Amino acid sequence: MNKIIIFLLFFFCIFSINAQQQNVEKRVDELLSRMTLEEKIGQMNQLNYSKGERVSLTSRVERGEVGSLLNITDPIAINEIQKAAMEKSRLGIPLIIGRDIIHGFKTIFPIPLGQAASFDPELVENGARIAAIEARSIGINWTFAPMLDISRDARWGRIAESLGEDPYLSGQLGAAMVKGFQGNGNLSDSNAIAACVKHFVGYGASEGGRDYNSTNIPPHLMRNTYLPPFRAAIEAGAATLMTSFNDNDGIPASGNDYILKTILRKEWIFDGFVVSDWASMTEMIAHGYAKDSKQVSEISANAGVDMEMVSGSYIKHLAGLVKDGKVSIDVVDGAVRNILRVKFRMGLFENPYVDVERQSVLYAENHLKAARQAAIESAILLKNDNGLLPLAENKKIAIIGPLADAPHDQMGTWVFDGDKNYTVTPLTALKREYSHVNYLYEPALKYSRDKNTSEFDKAKAAAASADVAVVFLGEEAILSGEAHSLSNIDLIGVQSDLLRAVKSAGKPVVLVIVAGRPLTIERDLPFADAVLYNFHPGTMGGPAILDLIFGKANPGGKLPVTFVREVGQIPMYYNHNNTGRPAPDKVMTLDDISLEAPQTSLGNTSFYLDSGKDPLYPFGYGLSYSKFDYSDLHLSSGSIALGGTLTVKATIQNTSKIDGTEVVQLYIQDLVGSIVRPVKELKGFQRISLKAGESKIVEFRLTTDDLAFYGRDLEKKAEAGDFKLWVGGSSKEGLMTKFKIE
Ligand code: GLC
Repeated sequence: MNKIIIFLLFFFCIFSINAQQQNVEKRVDELLSRMTLEEKIGQMNQLNYSKGERVSLTSRVERGEVGSLLNITDPIAINEIQKAAMEKSRLGIPLIIGRDIIHGFKTIFPIPLGQAASFDPELVENGARIAAIEARSIGINWTFAPMLDISRDARWGRIAESLGEDPYLSGQLGAAMVKGFQGNGNLSDSNAIAACVKHFVGYGASEGGRDYNSTNIPPHLMRNTYLPPFRAAIEAGAATLMTSFNDNDGIPASGNDYILKTILRKEWIFDGFVVSDWASMTEMIAHGYAKDSKQVSEISANAGVDMEMVSGSYIKHLAGLVKDGKVSIDVVDGAVRNILRVKFRMGLFENPYVDVERQSVLYAENHLKAARQAAIESAILLKNDNGLLPLAENKKIAIIGPLADAPHDQMGTWVFDGDKNYTVTPLTALKREYSHVNYLYEPALKYSRDKNTSEFDKAKAAAASADVAVVFLGEEAILSGEAHSLSNIDLIGVQSDLLRAVKSAGKPVVLVIVAGRPLTIERDLPFADAVLYNFHPGTMGGPAILDLIFGKANPGGKLPVTFVREVGQIPMYYNHNNTGRPAPDKVMTLDDISLEAPQTSLGNTSFYLDSGKDPLYPFGYGLSYSKFDYSDLHLSSGSIALGGTLTVKATIQNTSKIDGTEVVQLYIQDLVGSIVRPVKELKGFQRISLKAGESKIVEFRLTTDDLAFYGRDLEKKAEAGDFKLWVGGSSKEGLMTKFKIE
């Protein structure tokens, strides 16, 4: 009986979803049939809101010239201009209201690169859920997130906004963000906001890490590395997608019909809408891809950009282009259909307004609690010599450095609405929650770029009089993010000198880094006994860091991106090709080369004479106060047929006396392919909590679909052959075994 009920329920759900979708299509068709060409083009036009232009914007909305606004955050103003759309324009089509809500609206979570270090999809989904609840509560119903640009270059400021270097991790966490923003599939939920997957595509490969620069991603790399996270987010139901600024191999994304139509629409069957990035359409003139804004409109419309962000070429030229036959009315209808479909699915026609009377949910207690947990899980313990951490609370502590009490900078990049007055810094947390701790505070520098060393002696004296020094260094928020690339990623200014001065006092030093990117900290490591890395941890970063330092929480974060030893090693990432001359474990150094050495390249392989072949810290690396032992790696079979599934099991034991969390990672290597394959690829991860002494068997299921890739013929399939498989605590370690696809 139960089975029949379950089947009927399942059938009813499928039927009702289908019916809803049919209903939406009918409503789209019906509305479209009543729209003039000008009204259709109005829907394709997004404008930036500014209070000073409220009147002119409102009249343009009333004339049906606007489909969306961004950067309006006053609920009353939103209702007013929405009322103009609903009641004054001829057809009453609601506006979709966008904002960059990248890692929180008011309650700010760790920057996405930090959230990626948690390897915790549920935590990331919950963070996006909270951001949606807060944003929707004031009338914003669309966010320009998640950003899923694979980032292998720490010089690029927007690595801060990414989920790191790995396609699988970025895809898993990007899909989680989409579900969090969009109410797990119910886009019309009153707390849902439409997600916008960006920047499509390849922006993270900007040459030289210089923002907005060209990318040169060939087809195989594009399909096997840069596209997969976007596909995962689209499959999770992302309602919209944003084109990127870069030209790839000479074609700007906002004019690239191959990625926007062939891949996105034909292959992925995406039925949401595509918005350009800020003026990325008219920037095709600067690119040298369009001679003027009229040609911009023709190129972008025909390439598949449905909505233009702020540059106003569609509203100016598209009607004429349709009349001249340069752009078919079907293209315009298709774009407007996509936009209306999302607006209907969001329920905006039924619920266009925000309830300004509802009780505020901003900075709700449970939101702050979730942000604190996110900051805890996002922290990565890089070094802990002699078990210096966690610190006993009866120690006398010298709190030093410009990031110990930086409420604005702690929130990180892409924060438009977070209020620094709500930020709890480490110093504030010390006073509020650890007031019994005996501490001295000497910032020594006012901010990360401060070059004034006059306070260094005070910092050194504070360290000398304490049992341990905790030094907070890193980056101001503005030093990462859009348009903020760096060619030197050492600790900026004189921070490294401050660290050395503090260490010269002769006491143990804990280095806490708060930054927007991986920094080249190898030369700082000898002056720190322990290192805790926090990618701008957000509103509640202070209590989180103290919980970790004093052991109330146990670090479990893992690096979502490689930390290089020298900026000159970039790009260096774990899932690289083997090359024809892979470097052996031991490579020669400059000291190994005799004077007047005879010219030779024999025996040389792919490495640097001055910085070797390895990064400082690899992808997936992170320590814990616990110790985890891996054993009994077992496969359900030594070989699987195409279409088959492999069950992978391993035992992990917490051999320490401290409860902890481990991110168990599963990697494979496809040894021979129709194109060369990476030396390792992450194919699974699980966060497990283990009490002191506890063991757990972790199980992964790996299908041949998981092993499929775009091979020589650019068809996606798994190829028969030999594989290696690892299960471990980072991309550099773990138990290894082998299997075949027959
Ligand atoms: C910016 C960014 C994009 C953002 C948009 C709207 O230039 O590239 O990520 O969503 O403009 O602010």
